[in-house]
Amino acid sequence: MITADDAQALAEQHGTPFYLYELSVLRERARRLRAAMPATLLYAVKANPNEAVLRALHGLVDGLDVASLGELELALRCGWAPQQLSFAGPGKTQHELEAAIRHGVLLSVESIRELDALSPSLPELSRSRGGEGRGEGKPQPRPRLRLRLNPSLRAQAYRVPMIGGPSPFGIDEEELALATDHLLRHASTIDFDGIHVHPGGQCTSVGAFSAAAAATLDLAEQVHRRIPVRTINFGGGFGVLGSEELDVEAAGKRLGAMLEKYRASTGQALEAVVEPGRWLVAPAGLYVARVVSEKRSRGKHFVVLDGGMNHHLGATGHLGKLDLPLVNLSRPGAPRVMRTVVGPLCTPLDTLGADVELAEPQLGDLIGVRGSGAYGYSFSPLHFLGHPLPAEVVR
Ligand SMILES: Cc1ncc(COP(=O)(O)O)c(C=O)c1O
Repeated sequence: MITADDAQALAEQHGTPFYLYELSVLRERARRLRAAMPATLLYAVKANPNEAVLRALHGLVDGLDVASLGELELALRCGWAPQQLSFAGPGKTQHELEAAIRHGVLLSVESIRELDALSPSLPELSRSRGGEGRGEGKPQPRPRLRLRLNPSLRAQAYRVPMIGGPSPFGIDEEELALATDHLLRHASTIDFDGIHVHPGGQCTSVGAFSAAAAATLDLAEQVHRRIPVRTINFGGGFGVLGSEELDVEAAGKRLGAMLEKYRASTGQALEAVVEPGRWLVAPAGLYVARVVSEKRSRGKHFVVLDGGMNHHLGATGHLGKLDLPLVNLSRPGAPRVMRTVVGPLCTPLDTLGADVELAEPQLGDLIGVRGSGAYGYSFSPLHFLGHPLPAEVVR
């Protein structure tokens, strides 16, 4: 917990606005998730690609979920091995696909087209791996593929559902036979690893998590009848919404029981994978901006900060309700008042909190937005209106 003096010292050192990421909180979340989940843990880099965050997670999670060649290269720069990475995303270019294979990174294949795009070049790519100073004729690892699937189950209670309907993400359940035919045809040139289902974002319900996991296991069983499934990636989307969040201990217990049942019915030992981003890193972040103006207008009392939606789009609620608590860091003990807290942009969209209660802010006070570690800095229109970029402070 940051004190008023801490906040003031950081503001003097780094200017405002700034993000603060507390690595001790991140580590504690990772340890808790490790204890709760009977699964290999990947961290979804998109949630917060800060290098110190990626480095701090070594030894605490098993690998990273990346969504572009940029994230892949960032992960390698931060000391992660290619074998620890999983690359998903609906718009991988041919260049990205081939680079991932050359690095030996596991690919989550999102569409039949992507399977088609990969297949003609596979033998050639396998040869080119041999041609890169590794010695001709030496057996080369085959490209590792996971099928990302879109089950017909609706991801109820995921606030950002990504399965069940028409979707650019993953191959529809209805096309499973087509996809497995393809895998069988190319079995000698690829290393098929298993399936991947990311049900969506912001799930705080253990029941909804379990329903999505059950649908995923059902698909795995169908695929396994034709081609062995060694791994199931159950995706991310572990929600954090204000003070409410997914109970990972309960979710882990349910997953463990389902995996046991699957093992008993298929006789297949299986590696389970999960890849949350937000749950791990959101509580580790605080966004801090300074009060630069205030005004009353037709019954409302506005407080204007030197940063807002430009640095923290999510906090303005335009990407789904987050309910991030606003706190007066400089004067926590001041009387509680209702204020509408806005950023400096020329748009009513730049509202961090309408009629929220907080300790009475005065000009110059530092206002914090808690729970800001995920989908903040890298997810925001940082250059809109040309305000200075916020520092990212890590401690
Ligand atoms: C494939 C995939 N995995 C994992 C995540 C991480 O989701 P979250 O941060 O909600 O856990 C996302 C987010 O969009 C995703 O698309």
